[in-house]
Amino acid sequence: MERYIEPFKVKVVEPITAISREERAAAIARAGFNLFKLRADEIYIDLLTDSGTSAMSDNQWAGIMLGDESYAGSRNYFNFETAVREIFGLEHVIPVHQGRVAENLLFSTVLEPGMVVPNNSHFDTTRANVEVHAAEALDLLCAEGKDPHLSAPFKGNMDVAALEALIARVGTARIPLVMLTVTNNSGGGQPVSLANIRAVSAVCRAHGLPLFFDACRFAENAYFIKTREPGYAGRSIPEIVAEMFGYVDGCTMSAKKDGMVNMGGFLAMRDGELAERIRNLLILVEGFPTYGGLSGRDLEAIARGLREVLDERYLHFRVSQVANLGEQLAQGGVPILQPPGGHAVYLNAGEFLPHIPPAAFPGQSLAVNLYIESGVRGVEIGTLMFGGKDPATGAERTARLELVRLAIPRRVYTTMHMNYVAQAILDLYQKRASLQGMRIVKAPPFLRHFSATLDFVGRPERAQAI
Ligand code: F0G
Repeated sequence: MERYIEPFKVKVVEPITAISREERAAAIARAGFNLFKLRADEIYIDLLTDSGTSAMSDNQWAGIMLGDESYAGSRNYFNFETAVREIFGLEHVIPVHQGRVAENLLFSTVLEPGMVVPNNSHFDTTRANVEVHAAEALDLLCAEGKDPHLSAPFKGNMDVAALEALIARVGTARIPLVMLTVTNNSGGGQPVSLANIRAVSAVCRAHGLPLFFDACRFAENAYFIKTREPGYAGRSIPEIVAEMFGYVDGCTMSAKKDGMVNMGGFLAMRDGELAERIRNLLILVEGFPTYGGLSGRDLEAIARGLREVLDERYLHFRVSQVANLGEQLAQGGVPILQPPGGHAVYLNAGEFLPHIPPAAFPGQSLAVNLYIESGVRGVEIGTLMFGGKDPATGAERTARLELVRLAIPRRVYTTMHMNYVAQAILDLYQKRASLQGMRIVKAPPFLRHFSATLDFVGRPERAQAI
């Protein structure tokens, strides 16, 4: 693998607590074997999410001190608006406090019951914000994207023929917009090629349908285009981003990812009339259009973060750090989703623990055992997250794949931290036959993975130690 080093040095340090294996075993038992219910200071390396967990730069922190907290017309809003316009070429910019609010405002404005929103793969919050309007969130991922073993360059692409077939079947009146998620988080952080963006855009234009990006990880996607798509090696990241966004009518954005901030997001679009309708709703739920639920200082940090993320040396480090973790694991025989994504490595828990059936949550067992053994927190993306009773039939559903996502926060962990994570997983892999399945003790009817209480299969209800 090509050499990569951190393209930054450390100015401020945050100590991480290291509790003992016994303390971790007690903590996770107290948390009902649910990693969401741990205290963060019981975790050694936290790979729960790359969202809102970035380290800001000295330049961003300096910008924080220049926050202008005027209710209306803060100078930081104008810096933010200028950054979004310059980078994405989208005229109308609406700040919000995080990505799902951008989704909520957009879909509350354009959706009517019975409509369909096609996407390569909807992220959970995007899906929920479509379905809450009695509309259908349809995933049209390309065939390669569905094969966990296939190593293809652009497994986030949309199936263009399926999009055309959908339009022929339901008609354009029932499709308010088409969406592409870059990179495709739910499909393993896989990128979308410019060829695919161009092809989807051509279909949308031919039928008069707006095309939007869910742009959370746009810079990582652009870096994959530069390094994987023929003809783009000599193009700069800002040029590739400009070309990507030249094909769309707007975007939703969680700046908690490639905005390099801990909180924030926005909507941006070409259609001024649509922006006006969204702003009317914004005032109701988030605030005045020049702050949208954010402080002036937050807007300044986003403006600066959006420019910093375009740095190719940073993106090279970022993507290489994730790929290197994936490579260390794959070389040790650990089954992972191939190739590693831009922001995360996904362990294939179904193959890691073939003796544990989906109904006994192999992903949760893997994530819980990894925490107990090493203090590393990942997140189950499998039957605990997507299963539960089918509302129509009452049957227990299982997920298509049993995964554990290890999402890497931006600029937070060093190569030594990542080596520790790799070794912890390789050690656990040696003991895999001894890992037990899990059962649900108590769960709410919806989004059960956040709050369910679990235990190991076969462990008595009130056992004290593991
Ligand atoms: N879209 C995508 C592709 C996302 O990954 C997320 C968040 C959102 C929208 C929503 O943004 O959290 O700012 O409201 N993903 C986080 C994750 C939560 O862990 O993958 P938000």
